[in-house]
Amino acid sequence: MSSASTVPQTLPDGVVSLADHESHARLVLDDAVWAYFNGGAADEITLHANARAWQTIELLPRVMRQLSGGHTRVNLLGREWPHPILVAPMAYQRLAHPHAEQATALAAAALGAGLVLSTQASTLLEDVARTVLPEPDRGPLWFQLYLLPDRGFMKTLVQRAEAAGFEALVLTVDAPVQGARDRERRAGFRRPADITAVNLAGRVAPAPLSLRPGQSRLFDDLMTHAPTWDDIAWLRSITNLPVLLKGVVHPDDARQALDCGAAGVIVSNHGGRTLDTMPATAALLPRVVQAVAGDAPVLVDGGIRRGTDVLKAMALGASAVLVGRPVLHGLANAGATGVAHVLRLLRDELEIAMALTGCRTLRDAASTLSPASSRC
Ligand SMILES: Cc1cc2nc3c(=O)[nH]c(=O)nc-3n(C[C@H](O)[C@H](O)[C@H](O)COP(=O)(O)O)c2cc1C
Repeated sequence: MSSASTVPQTLPDGVVSLADHESHARLVLDDAVWAYFNGGAADEITLHANARAWQTIELLPRVMRQLSGGHTRVNLLGREWPHPILVAPMAYQRLAHPHAEQATALAAAALGAGLVLSTQASTLLEDVARTVLPEPDRGPLWFQLYLLPDRGFMKTLVQRAEAAGFEALVLTVDAPVQGARDRERRAGFRRPADITAVNLAGRVAPAPLSLRPGQSRLFDDLMTHAPTWDDIAWLRSITNLPVLLKGVVHPDDARQALDCGAAGVIVSNHGGRTLDTMPATAALLPRVVQAVAGDAPVLVDGGIRRGTDVLKAMALGASAVLVGRPVLHGLANAGATGVAHVLRLLRDELEIAMALTGCRTLRDAASTLSPASSRC
């Protein structure tokens, strides 16, 4: 792990892609932190499937179209933003770099990318908002939540996010329990005591129940606090912010989310960190898009590593994409400069991919898929 005395802030030579950032970050980060960041659940089938699925979708370019005046702008929750790339919520970014979420926020705002701040951020949400909001060409600023058993605390947290200027809430619904993260356990990852979820300070964690013989710690204790559909109504009752659900992959759940008042859904398998052997998100996206039928934005994340991946996601009907681990790699490599470089690469690659496929705007994206890929 980098220490404050050796804070990497300049880009290493020869890093020209997100894969290069990943290779370099492997050298910078210690083994246990690497396992926490890059690992997935169990045999990591889903982790690998995510990236592979985008790679195997084929693009079929159209040539000699009029492209001048083209742009990457998108509309999301009633506002126009510079492009469709957001930073996914990721916990404890201080593990990657001492400047942590502040560096990520600075870079995202400067590059016009959206930022979804994790509930488990290692930086105060108010500090992040102060960094992002003054930037005129920034992207959306959203706050991610897990449902907390301490509802009084959760209400205060939501009110803090709202007061700080966050524009939407993202409730993560796919991780009522942590996946079997074998790689992380093999590496013996332990979060250092001085890196904490600072926004959760003061919350009351429920004491473990004493169980009768035959009862299950998971089902008879932990799951009594897990989110259910009824909780969406409660969350909506305590905030005026739009609420998106992250981790919705079944078309029926997507419809139910909208029926419960969700303002959008994020198709995600948590980057392969929860339930292993789930399909890749690229494969899940089209059916969710079909079920939502344009009634709300559908975002997607998992394995997006190239501008062409972003274009393909848009072609399959996504309204925007979130990028996870590459941001941590950029952060570990060079702080805010590294994150900015990762986001710049993705945005540049997206523009190049649009020009080379004959897309003036992202509304034209659907026409870029080869016939075999558009049936997926
Ligand atoms: C180290 C790490 C921490 C994460 N923490 C959170 C979190 O606090 N909340 C959440 O909803 N998702 C979390 N995620 C999942 C990401 O938001 C996102 O769904 C996933 O990383 C996207 O896949 P990608 O890393 O392949 O781009 C985390 C992912 C990683 C790698």
